Amino acid sequence: MKILLIGKNGQVGWELQRSLSTLGDVVAVDYFDEALCGDLTKPEGIAETIRSVKPDVVVNAAAHTAVDKAESERELSQLLNADSVEVIARETAQIGAMLVHYSTDYVFNGEGDHFRQEDEQTGPLNVYGETKLAGEKAVAAHNPRHFIFRTSWVYATRGANFAKTMLRLAKEKEQLSIINDQHGAPTGAELLADCTAIAIRTAAQNASLFGTYHLVASGETTWYDYAQYVFSVAEELGETLAIREVKGVDTSAYPTPAKRPHNSRLSNQKFQSAFAVVLPDWQVGVKRAVTEMLGK
Ligand SMILES: NC(=O)c1ccc[n+]([C@@H]2O[C@H](COP(=O)([O-])OP(=O)(O)OC[C@H]3O[C@@H](n4cnc5c(N)ncnc54)[C@H](OP(=O)(O)O)[C@@H]3O)[C@@H](O)[C@H]2O)c1
Repeated sequence: MKILLIGKNGQVGWELQRSLSTLGDVVAVDYFDEALCGDLTKPEGIAETIRSVKPDVVVNAAAHTAVDKAESERELSQLLNADSVEVIARETAQIGAMLVHYSTDYVFNGEGDHFRQEDEQTGPLNVYGETKLAGEKAVAAHNPRHFIFRTSWVYATRGANFAKTMLRLAKEKEQLSIINDQHGAPTGAELLADCTAIAIRTAAQNASLFGTYHLVASGETTWYDYAQYVFSVAEELGETLAIREVKGVDTSAYPTPAKRPHNSRLSNQKFQSAFAVVLPDWQVGVKRAVTEMLGK
């Protein structure tokens, strides 16, 4: 199997380099590569890369992921998250290749307190969510052999993320205020990458599995409880932290350019049943990542 991986150095892309290598020959690109274009600001270049590599599968892990910046960079966000994705979908369909694409809990408006199913009404609250939803629609419209994996609160030992920032702040500050009215599941890039490889392998034998899935760790938390868990793991591991007081605050305490959903709970039952896998509770992956981040 020949796989083209776009966005090889992102949190998820980096882990995909590892997990996809068990499936076959991986050609991995990024936007600064010169031999093959991996730049989503150049849709025609990406199309040319697909035509020349002739992969069986394209995995697109690249995106405009800066949620607040997207509010003032709508055109760039649309180009990376939707227009280029449409080109990838058309080109992969043309050569009969499978397309794996990632999306987000931010395609929903976050009302209520239930775990959302895949077919529930979307309604993004911000530009990032709008452009990611447009990307989903482009994939679904142009290549029936697709997976769209909606995930949330992604972390990895490589790259910038909430867990890493919290560890740094807890060493520097005695007091922190953290949002406690947004609910979701921190999901590891490792888990996403491993599950992606399983899905590709399974779908190669069973085309009825293509479609949209919520691919998140099990359970739920808030940013506040997530941070507390990170601190408790660090302390258990013998790390000295400066932090003495953690206050839970409403989203309104931290005004940001992009509005965020309160309820990012996604049901992962469909993925678990379709691929006969267990998606572990979010604490499992976070504990492992914090241990690695601290070099323990
Ligand atoms: N991170 C999250 O919490 C989260 C939550 C839900 C869904 N997702 C989705 O999950 C997927 C993977 O996200 P991630 O967490 O791995 O994000 P990430 O670490 O930000 O990775 C995205 C990658 O895309 C690259 N990129 C930026 N501009 C590009 C361009 N013009 N052409 C090609 N690549 C470009 C980035 O490079 P630079 O780093 O150099 O800019 C980065 O390597 C994305 O589809 C994202 O929307 C992420």
